[in-house]
Parts: sequence; structure tokens; C-alpha cells
Amino acid sequence: MLSKTHSRHRMIFCSFVAAVLIPCVFFLLWPLPAAYRTTPAAPPAPVHQSTPADQPPEAPLVLPRERVSAGSAQANAPSDGGCAGVSDAELTRFLRRLADLPHYDKSRAARYLNYYGSARYTDQQIVRLVNTDNDLVPFTDAVPAAVDAGVLTLVNKYHEMPACEPEDLTPLPGAYASRGELRAPACRAYVAMADAAQKAGCPISCVSPYRSYAQQQSIYNDYVSRHSLALADTYSARPGFSEHQTGLCVDVTAEGAEYTEFDQTAAFRWMTEHAHEYGFILRYGDGMDYITGYIYEPWHYRYVGVQAAAYIHSHDLTFEEYYYYYILDDDTPA
Ligand code: DAL
Ligand code: ZN
Repeated sequence: MLSKTHSRHRMIFCSFVAAVLIPCVFFLLWPLPAAYRTTPAAPPAPVHQSTPADQPPEAPLVLPRERVSAGSAQANAPSDGGCAGVSDAELTRFLRRLADLPHYDKSRAARYLNYYGSARYTDQQIVRLVNTDNDLVPFTDAVPAAVDAGVLTLVNKYHEMPACEPEDLTPLPGAYASRGELRAPACRAYVAMADAAQKAGCPISCVSPYRSYAQQQSIYNDYVSRHSLALADTYSARPGFSEHQTGLCVDVTAEGAEYTEFDQTAAFRWMTEHAHEYGFILRYGDGMDYITGYIYEPWHYRYVGVQAAAYIHSHDLTFEEYYYYYILDDDTPA
């Protein structure tokens, strides 16, 4: 009897625990702080909500780890440019602007950044000068000129002529120059161009064609002694760095005009319209010294062949750009 009563009590107690106590305990525990619960924590709220103007919605450009490339490019960077203390968002915006320009080269991004904030150059000029290695130190960073490129060999402050004489130097006929030689294809083209200029009523005459290393050295040294090294470097090539040593260029003038006044003559206007038809380009254009390395020389024409000259003329390029894009990179001009 006693045990029957006991087991009834136990049954009542168990039912009570199941029906009332368990739900109560569950209900009381639920609002405990998250740290005590086993449910996954919610993702943390963003610390800084950037505005669209603050940061581009997506950044396809990755900022180079090394903002300033080592060595020369940094040494030669403009004093009013650079990216020290500038936010990543701002630098990314700068590179995105450059990336919209023709011939942006992402492998040179670190070098473009050296020019961030420079008042001296436009975005397009930054791309053009870095693409042609003009951010490096002239002469010091020079490589041997690739003479295998034939009439498309680039010689400038970054591409040094090897100490050799072109094999096919050909004397200009007496009617076209009192003295001097050019390489055979340049010589033929020059004669044809001079004939055409004469026929058009604006004859040109050759002032200076091929120059040897020794001749260039004497000319350059003379300029340095009369002016200064820094000034001479703006208009005269150091020996070994002159295009005249290729035998592929020529300084010209019009009859009765000093060559320094050539751009004020009808012959210059004729050359501007027709030189490319004979394979010649104006090599040192007005305002292009940040790429070519030299001040405007309206008298200096370079033979590159008719196809390249036509392309350079119609696309308003420097020879440096044509060389880097279509010769060095072996791209096909569009
Ligand atoms: N005047 C040009 C740059 C030369 O000396 O070759
Ligand atoms: Zn010249």
C-alpha cells in the first residue's frame, strides 16, 4: 500500500517536471547574452561605412605593393609628385583615371604613382613619359641601341649607339649637299624628297647628315664650353647618343634661311605635309621634349621608312612611342 502511494506520487512529480518546469527553465534561459548561447554570432557591423565618392564601388586596379619602384625611377621622380601620405583610395582613383587612357600599362603602375600630384604633367603625359622610360635617369640607365631594328633603331638618351659605323653609308649627290653621307635607304629617300620639294617650289638643303662619334663629340664639347652641360643636353646629343650616328637622319633648311628659322619657311610647311610620304618624320616635335629628350628641332628629320612614318604622322606619335609599342613589344599598329 505504501509503495503504491509512493509510485503514484513519483508519477505526479514527473508529470509536473515535464509539463511545467522544463518549459520554464527554457523560457528563462533564452534571453541570456549571446556569449552564453551556442547560436552563431551575427556578423560585426562595419566600422566605417564609406560613401561612393570616398571609394570606388569596385576597384579592378590593385595598388602595387611597392609604390615607388626601386632605383632610378624614384631618383628621377618630380619633386612635386609622389604618393607619400596619400590614401589608397585616392591613389586608386588616380590609377583608374590613367587606366582609361591609351597605352596604360599596368606593369608600370608603381612608376606612374611617382608622378601623382605633379603639377608639371597631365595624366596623358605621365603615361606617355613613363611608357617610354623617361622617368629613368638619362645616360646612366641607357641600354645599347637595338641596331637589329634596322631603319627603326631607336637612339636617344636611353639607347646608346654601339661604337661602329653603319656599313652602307652613301654620299649624298652634290646637288643635294655640299658634303656628307646617309645610309643607303635614307639617302635614296632624301633625294626623292628633295626633288619633290624643289618641284613644289620650296627647295630644301641638307645642313648635317651622318656624323661619326668623333664629330658628335667635337660638336657637343663645343656647345658645353660655350653654354653649360645642362643647357647643351637640351639640344645636343652626347657622343654615342646621337641619332646622327645612325646615318638615318638629316638636318635641313630652306634656301637662304638659317636652319634655326626653318619653321618659318614654306619649305617647312611642305615638309610638315609631305615628309612622311618619303619615310621621314619630324623627330623632335614642339613640346615633346619630355619624351624625346630634346627641345623642338624643326630642322631634324629621321628616316624610318614610309609605313612607320605614315603611322607616326597620322597618329601624332613620337618615334619613342612607336618604337616601344610596335617594335619592342612587337605589336601591330592598328
Ligand atoms: N641635336 C640632336 C639632338 C643631336 O645632337 O643629335
Ligand atoms: Zn639633327
